[in-house]
Amino acid sequence: MLEARTRDYVEHRIRAGVLEHGTARLLEDSGVGGRMRAEGLVHHGIELRFEGQAHRVPLTELSGGRSIVVYGQQEVVKDLVAARLGAGGEVRFEAECVGVDAPELGKASIRYRAGGEERLLECDVVAGCDGFHGACRASAPPGAFREVEHTHPFGWLGVLAAVPPSTEELIYCRHERGFALHSLRSPELSRLYLQVDPDERTERWPDERIWEELRRRFATEDGWTLAEGPVLEKSITAMKSFVAEPMRSGALFLAGDSAHIVPPTGAKGMNLAVADVRTLAAALLEWYRSGDEQLLDDYSATCLRRVWAAQEFSTYMTRMLHPLPGDDFGSRIALAQLRQAAALGAASTHLAERYVDLCSV
Ligand code: PHB
Repeated sequence: MLEARTRDYVEHRIRAGVLEHGTARLLEDSGVGGRMRAEGLVHHGIELRFEGQAHRVPLTELSGGRSIVVYGQQEVVKDLVAARLGAGGEVRFEAECVGVDAPELGKASIRYRAGGEERLLECDVVAGCDGFHGACRASAPPGAFREVEHTHPFGWLGVLAAVPPSTEELIYCRHERGFALHSLRSPELSRLYLQVDPDERTERWPDERIWEELRRRFATEDGWTLAEGPVLEKSITAMKSFVAEPMRSGALFLAGDSAHIVPPTGAKGMNLAVADVRTLAAALLEWYRSGDEQLLDDYSATCLRRVWAAQEFSTYMTRMLHPLPGDDFGSRIALAQLRQAAALGAASTHLAERYVDLCSV
């Protein structure tokens, strides 16, 4: 296992935070769920807020008893690194992949730079888990992947703040000034997001402006208040949908963001990555055990069905919750969808089922 960054960097980088029911169960079943069980926050609902009113979607009630766990991605990374090292495995940090050659199963190699030198790792297969900008997808033969993408014309300004969350459940808020999301990381840490222009810069968002904008967007008719505190971190995320098809070239298997990006509105990115790896692990196990390549041959199609289901859900959530300047028609349609999602009928159930457990099916 090669990791370009330091252990400290990957264990503290703030990323996603929502584990689906099936993702949490997989961590448990794999023996790495101990700290998640102790420190993760189990949620049974989310709030949809629009037109100044709060509407609770009771996820657990609508999804046959399932729930989500709010647990930061960097915490999952810590648990996985500890488990790997604890089992006598090797994780080589500060080892940057520069190219992959993987013409067929059993014949692959990774060129990487470590300690100022270029080295070669020979292997049977390569799991390309190196993200959207990684070297794996880029080093496949020309034409190996067809890339399908869609860029949403806005970004998210994300904030980590040292203040107890003003809510027990996540709040997804549509406002004419733009989308806002109230999430959390712990009883003392709030995670908040604002829809901004895609080329926005954090320097233009001093803390006071962020709180002022959050207050305006989250305002309700019944006078809900937002607690404020020191901003510890700010960043801007572009909103992109991307899929590389198929997710395999020879002995190179793409997994996670190297193969697909979803906008964060549906909270699916980390869950999809975990699901890819679960599928790949089962296929590799079968191949090593019996020599049967069938599951490896099925890997891409199996994953892509799930990836496109997640793209559909993320696009639904994104379009429903983000206003576009001047798009009155789109706004009316989105409000009609929000009313259905809040009405506790079939649309709410459909949302709840996909929010809670899309990637493990
Ligand atoms: C987060 O807590 O970072 C988070 C939660 C829900 C989302 C996106 C991000 O949809």
